[in-house]
Order: sequence, then C-alpha cells, then structure tokens
Amino acid sequence: MSAVQLPGAPELHYRGDSLHVEEVALADLARQHGTPLFVYSRASMLAALAAYQRGFAGRKARIFYALKANSSLAILQVFARAGCGFDIVSGGELERVLAAGGRGSDIIFSGVGKTPGEMHRALDIGIHCFNVESEAELEVLSEVAVQAGTRAPVSLRVNPDVNPLTHPYISTGLKGSKFGIAHKNALRAYQRAASLPGLRVIGIDCHIGSQITHVGPYLDALDRMLDLVTAIEAAGIPIAHIDLGGGLGIVYNEEQPPPADALWQRLLARLDARGFGDRQLMIEPGRSLVGNAGVCVTEVLYVKPGEQKNFCVVDAAMNDLPRPAMYEAYHQIVPVRQTTLAPVVYDVVGPVCESGDWLGRDRKLAARSGDLLAVLSAGAYCMSMASNYNTRGRAAEVLVDGAQVHLIRKREDVAEMLRSELLLP
Ligand code: LLP
Repeated sequence: MSAVQLPGAPELHYRGDSLHVEEVALADLARQHGTPLFVYSRASMLAALAAYQRGFAGRKARIFYALKANSSLAILQVFARAGCGFDIVSGGELERVLAAGGRGSDIIFSGVGKTPGEMHRALDIGIHCFNVESEAELEVLSEVAVQAGTRAPVSLRVNPDVNPLTHPYISTGLKGSKFGIAHKNALRAYQRAASLPGLRVIGIDCHIGSQITHVGPYLDALDRMLDLVTAIEAAGIPIAHIDLGGGLGIVYNEEQPPPADALWQRLLARLDARGFGDRQLMIEPGRSLVGNAGVCVTEVLYVKPGEQKNFCVVDAAMNDLPRPAMYEAYHQIVPVRQTTLAPVVYDVVGPVCESGDWLGRDRKLAARSGDLLAVLSAGAYCMSMASNYNTRGRAAEVLVDGAQVHLIRKREDVAEMLRSELLLP
C-alpha cells in the first residue's frame, strides 16, 4: 500500500490502513455522526497558534483570529481560551464572539460596509478598535459615537498597493480593490479622523490578501505602512499599534508557505531595522490557524463511468465545500480506509445540480459505493461559507481532542431550513 502524503496536517495520519485525526478513527466518527462530517483537531489549531506565539515571543503583540475562516462557537472557544482576540466583519460575528465567551475588548471590527446599527452595538460592548475602510465610514462612525456619548477607537485600513501573488478573488491590497483607503489619501484621512469629535485614532492596519505563500509582499506592505506611520506622526497624530492583517497561506497541495514564526522573524527584523521594534503589533490570521486542522469526511454514493471522464459522486457538495467551485481551489482527497484495489482517475463531484459542483478533478482513487473519502485542508472557509443550496442541510461538525470527541454542531435538518419561511395565505 502506498504511503499517502497528507499535506500540512500533523494530526492526520494512517494507523494501519485507517485514517485518524489525533487518536480517533474517521470511520468511527462517520458511523456515529453520519456524513458529510467536518472533523477538526484541537491540537492542530493550537500548534498553528503556537507558531505565531513563538514568532512574537518577547514582543508586544496580540493575535486576533479572523473568524470568517471558521466561526463555529467551539472553535472560537478554543482560541478565546488560548488568549486570542477576534477580528470580526459583521454584527453576527460580534454576537458569536460574545456567545463563545469573548469580551468586547478582545474584538476588532473590519469590513467595508459596517452599518450604524453594527457600530452602535460594537461601541456598546466596548470593542478594542474599528478598522475603518473609507472616509465616508469615518464620518458615520463619528456621528454614531457622538450620539452614544463616546469616542470610537479607530485604525484606518490602508491599501498599500502591493501584489500578494495569490488568487485574484482573494487579493485585497491592490489599487483596484474595494478594500481600504488608498495609500496616497491615507494622510488626509488620518487628519480628518483626528479632527472628528467622535473618534480616537489609535492605530493603522492593512490586509493585502489571503493564501499568501511568499514573504516579499508582506515586507513590501510593511515598508509602505511604516512610511505612512512616519508621515502621520510627523503631522502630530500618534499611532499606537500597527496591524498587518492576516493572509498567511497553508498547504493544500504543493505550496510552501513560510512557517508563521519564520515570517515574523523577517518582519520583526525589518521593524527593528526601521526603529519600530517596540510598537504594539496586531495580526488577524484566519486560514493559517484552522485550515489544516480540519477535514471533511464524505461517503461515495455512486461510481459513474462517463464517456470522457469517470465520476465519483459523493454526498458532500459545493454547498459544503464551496472553494473548488468558487476559486477552482485544490483540496487533496484521500481514502478513509486504504485498500489494495487498483485506482481509477475520477472527477469527485457532489449531488448539486451544477456542473461547477466538483470537489476534485482527475484524482486517482480506489473508490466503491459506500466507501469514505476525506477532503483535506477543510478547516477554513468551508463550513463558514456553507449554504443551503438545493435545500441541503449543513453538515455536522466534531472537534477531536486526543481520544475525546465533541459534537460541536448538529447536522441541520429540514425543519430548521424551513423555519423562517412563511406560506402565502
Ligand atoms: N483580515 C481581513 C480584513 C480579511 O479580509 C481577512 C480575510 C483576514 C483578516 C483573514 O485572512 P486569512 O488569514 O484567512 O487569509 N474565502 C476565501 C478567503 C477570503 C479571505 C477574506 N478575508 C478562500 O476560501 O480562499
């Protein structure tokens, strides 16, 4: 039996021929909880976090987990208990953080379209910082804060115009992007912010993109940000913290992203060299904390030889794992039980009525109806982007901790999907 390479997932391994997450066999979990089933390793998440913590040892730095990557409450609990703050982008995410035991002072609020209602709520709970993305937002936030009798702590998200060398849909720091305030307008925006009665300027931030596998774009963004900090402070506006966003990539296939501690060694050296080494640092990682900690277990429904291609139809689909359909993203797919059957080349597809509903193309697999497969690197931007398309309930989720298994989300049933709909009279 050939050894299968399992990318970037230290807690995923075959014991004999059976795929395990930590101490638990995925086949047992599928039997007990059904499929499709997301399975996460707590140890993997904490190991990913530890790499950042090592990188920041001895520095004033705080990690704000970007929960858009995976916002399930138990996942948030893992990070809250490990001392993380949270980067939110909606009022819904704010309530999730509170429900998981986070506090207002642990939260920073990013996003281009915050509503006055969301701003009110965030001020009410005393959030740590708003990452403001436009001059228009500055005005509204100031008004909301004045009404509430307070001053909103703000950082401006600057668009440093560097190319993160990643997929265009997840590049956010280029000139043509809807995100952030253009680098050339940033000083003016800071001066406006400092003059508004409802605002208190505390920092600066950027986020240049996601699934970044090179150090260069981060160094370029940092240089551009430090130039601005110098100019803003020369104008008499102190910048207490520098937030470099998230974006560090993970291994899906053959990528070789720098480990978080190595990345930060380089960035800290640059900060030191430019005399900013003692600044309060903040980051907003999402994918790199959870992506390789999760797999999605799915059952083969049918094997279907086609005229040009062979299809392996599984019970997980684009509503559960939207990344292949949205970004042509690659996720490795491996058998939950290795066999000696001869492999065949398949497109692995789901039951949704769309040609775009594929999970993997041209994959060599030995698969029969009833077999289980695991879609790897499924911890980030899978469950949090899942939908009910084709009225398919969202999958169940379990968190593995050593030999312990916690069900953290029940499978969504039809009654739940229909609950908020109303029939005509
Ligand atoms: N901060 C901000 C302001 C962001 O917009 C994002 C992600 C993050 C932090 C976290 O980035 P990360 O460390 O996870 O790369 N759905 C896409 C990814 C979208 C990323 C959106 N913003 C995917 O599945 O590849």
